[in-house]
Amino acid sequence: MWRSHIGDIVNAYKHFSDDTPDHKAVVVFDSMWHSTEKMARAVLEGFAMKGVPVKLYDLKVDHISDIMTDVLKAEYVAVGSPTINNQMLPTVASFLCYMKGLAPKNKKAFAFGSYGWGGQSAGLVNDGLEACKFQIVMEPVKVQYIPSEAFLKELSEKVAALD
Ligand SMILES: Cc1cc2nc3c(=O)[nH]c(=O)nc-3n(C[C@H](O)[C@H](O)[C@H](O)COP(=O)(O)O)c2cc1C
Repeated sequence: MWRSHIGDIVNAYKHFSDDTPDHKAVVVFDSMWHSTEKMARAVLEGFAMKGVPVKLYDLKVDHISDIMTDVLKAEYVAVGSPTINNQMLPTVASFLCYMKGLAPKNKKAFAFGSYGWGGQSAGLVNDGLEACKFQIVMEPVKVQYIPSEAFLKELSEKVAALD
């Protein structure tokens, strides 16, 4: 039973539930050998250059429930996975499935990921973001094996230039 700060609490609930995003970004990834992680860090850098508060989540260590707490009020959601066996990593598929179920609204999103040959993951993650009914603001970003410094710089600049 709340006996004080009633107005603050009601306003906080209104804020959590009104689907209006805060000006912040969430970058979520998993990576086997760090190439997709390098891309994720370049995306993080891009949002920082843009002046958007941003958090980086590694699906190997961060729980999807904790990530979703931030996603619910985020304006941007960037999700990365390498390609494994013609797919995205199962951790990323699990996260996308969970996010689709919770149906957060009004998100701008894009996918990224490293690959070796077929390179399906970024496209599949993009499909997952579309299935969440997010506005896709960048074509899926793919790189074969290890991204060069030049590629990462360009990626940061592309993110910094997003609407
Ligand atoms: C077990 C395994 C399976 C893989 N399967 C594919 C595949 O089906 N298609 C593909 O394009 N690359 C495949 N790759 C290559 C990785 O996508 C590539 O090494 C990528 O750079 C890994 O990114 P990461 O460093 O973010 O893990 C596979 C790699 C491993 C280790």
